[in-house]
Amino acid sequence: MSYYIGIDLGTSAVKLLLVDEGGAICGSVTKEYPLSFPQPGWSEQDPSDWWKAVMFGILQLTEHVDKSQICGIGCGGQMHGLVALDEDDAVIRPAILWNDGRTAEETEYLNTVIGRERLSALTANIAFAGFTAPKLLWMKKHEPENFARIKKIMLPKDYINYRLTGVHACDYSDASGMLLLDVEHRRWSKEMLEICGVTEEQMPKLYESFDVIGTVQGFVSGALGLPRGCRVVAGAGDNAAAAVGTGTVGEGACNLSLGTSGTIFISSERFGVDHNNALHAFAHADGHYHLMGCMLSAASCNKWFCDEILKTGDYAAEQVGITDGKLGRNRVYFLPYLMGERSPINDTDARGTFVGMSMDTGREDMLQAVLEGVAFAIRDSFEVARSLGIDIRRSKLCGGGARSPLWRKIIANVLNISLDIPQTEEGPGYGGALLAMVGCGDFKSVADACARFVRVRETVTPDPEIAARYEERYQQFKRIYPSMKTLFKDLR
Ligand code: XUL
Repeated sequence: MSYYIGIDLGTSAVKLLLVDEGGAICGSVTKEYPLSFPQPGWSEQDPSDWWKAVMFGILQLTEHVDKSQICGIGCGGQMHGLVALDEDDAVIRPAILWNDGRTAEETEYLNTVIGRERLSALTANIAFAGFTAPKLLWMKKHEPENFARIKKIMLPKDYINYRLTGVHACDYSDASGMLLLDVEHRRWSKEMLEICGVTEEQMPKLYESFDVIGTVQGFVSGALGLPRGCRVVAGAGDNAAAAVGTGTVGEGACNLSLGTSGTIFISSERFGVDHNNALHAFAHADGHYHLMGCMLSAASCNKWFCDEILKTGDYAAEQVGITDGKLGRNRVYFLPYLMGERSPINDTDARGTFVGMSMDTGREDMLQAVLEGVAFAIRDSFEVARSLGIDIRRSKLCGGGARSPLWRKIIANVLNISLDIPQTEEGPGYGGALLAMVGCGDFKSVADACARFVRVRETVTPDPEIAARYEERYQQFKRIYPSMKTLFKDLR
């Protein structure tokens, strides 16, 4: 029996899956690590915490299997984070993460001085605060001594791959989110590197997600008991990996992910750009392309409201009283912009906001507003896709938030589409394992691996009455942010 390890390097934890050659998940381990917010809107993590969690995770995951049969490892990781190493391979400063909003000035500089059109021509995208290029500019300006020490630039999962193999590599899907890649031609943009003051020597070598970048290096093999020949593939950004794990490949397939972030991911066989650049135009892990909208706080809104405000860890119990009759009838609205927002509004100043409360508003109404606010915000990106003529009739749904039957129902009705729930909701980890299988030669293509192993467990269909009620509510929701936009800016 051959085994593969799929790693999902997330924002709150790393989740590792052990998958056998028949596609069955034989084990899973989750290891959490801290996330720090050193200033409002900033978000950082220590890459050595990721590495420790991955090592202990692999040890625990493989405790009871014959380790000599572990053939490959594939990692899907949180995107956009800036990891910088010096000439001794030491991490120069904590990684600045995808949901960090400190780069408002640099983002504006890129979008206005360099210009959106130029950026889009060079990279197929415009600047968003979470992308890597504005982070480099921020570091150059605010931490010049750190910036001068940079020898290697990498993304979070590339740091794990580097520690595993000693190879400085990145795949096209994750590299797309740096705003340094010419996405269409799958090569670094010399002009963008120059704009950010870095050189190609500092950048990782580029690969397809299913390409093998190397095998585990000696000391890793010794410490973890993995065979020296165990192959590591380039892996993917977590959304592209999740798309593989949910079988979202080929023309026009859609996946929604409800993790810390919320994303809508539309795969495509051809390169294409949203002419307003509200959706990201990135490479896919199957060798093709995708469009994606990303909201910065999705399942994290529910976590925040339950943990910090309601002070409960029993999320399911809080949702029991929100019955069908209440769906689409809530008078309370919630803007889910707890970390500012990326798609489609691109506003680092936006903030979480409850609107419409009265003396009879209770905790259930507020919780319902939180779940609905996330669904409405996903609908905002969904509408952008529609405006491009992309007709989405159904989608996969994965991520921690997808475990809530109520939230699934709300999203299906707010979008008025059917949602297929895959057998494994751990999209990125499973996708990572499938990429490793392709890299090890078990399948000719990513699409073949998906067709063989990905199965739908359940489909949630919209109810016409509830969907009609939500249509009205969405039309109201849509008006709230524009009416507060300048206020958010003034409150900065
Ligand atoms: C995508 C994005 C997030 C992170 C979350 O553009 O920023 O989905 O990848 O891990």
